[in-house]
Amino acid sequence: MDVMEPIYLVGGSKGGVGKSMVTLALADYLQRHDIHAMLLETDTSNPDVMKALRDDMKCSAYDLDDADGWIGFVNFCAEHRGAAVIVNTAARNQTGVTRYGGTLARTLAELGRQLVVFWVINRQRDSLELLHIFGQTFPDTVTHVVRNGYFGKPDKFTLYQELQLRRSIEMKGRSLDFPDLADRVADELRSQRISIRKAAETMHIGQRAELFRWRELCDAMFAQVIDVDRTVHEQ
Ligand SMILES: Nc1ncnc2c1ncn2[C@@H]1O[C@H](COP(=O)(O)OP(=O)(O)OP(=O)(O)O)[C@@H](O)[C@H]1O
Ligand SMILES: [Mg+2]
Repeated sequence: MDVMEPIYLVGGSKGGVGKSMVTLALADYLQRHDIHAMLLETDTSNPDVMKALRDDMKCSAYDLDDADGWIGFVNFCAEHRGAAVIVNTAARNQTGVTRYGGTLARTLAELGRQLVVFWVINRQRDSLELLHIFGQTFPDTVTHVVRNGYFGKPDKFTLYQELQLRRSIEMKGRSLDFPDLADRVADELRSQRISIRKAAETMHIGQRAELFRWRELCDAMFAQVIDVDRTVHEQ
């Protein structure tokens, strides 16, 4: 059977919660498991992920603040049926998502695609409020909440722990823990604008050792929710 790869949307709406980091980690994870993936960059004012992944996969940018961007987004997904589509979102996309997100939500069935969301959070309340709004636009998605370890250990995410919404999230998705990468390596990744694959080849030995430690933890996180065996064998 022809099983379509999902559209993975890395969201979180808030600035600086780690969306770009999670997108880079996801791209690296899919590529290392031989899953054909493409990047759809929607952070058009600061396309940091697109710059980092340019040599690794096909990348395309769409502005989700206007209807044309969403049309392009849907067409891109239709034109690349064999590929997993990774969507990196920008902090400011929230209005566009609320206004036009239905365009995508309504076409998912026709595209034969599942939308899988990684919603990256820090420890503050607004991350969760935005998640609630997002869930109303896309009621049928599988959403995984990603507690970014950069902001503290899982037990420090007390607002999320206590949240009623967490229970409904965990009926379809998971609560995941994204590992913290040493600042020195994270800063180098950022300033050099390189992919994790490239960093794993080119960084200095000490930084590489830390990168590999982190990557293993990322693998364990994604393995909880992405069944690479199914994807590889049934495409
Ligand atoms: N798990 C992590 N380990 C180490 N550093 C991290 C981690 N998560 C985020 N950071 C750091 O925090 C900063 C913001 O991360 P990032 O750019 O991924 O956030 P963002 O949500 O994409 O922000 P924006 O909304 O501006 O696009 C970066 O400097 C990044 O290196
Ligand atoms: Mg970003």
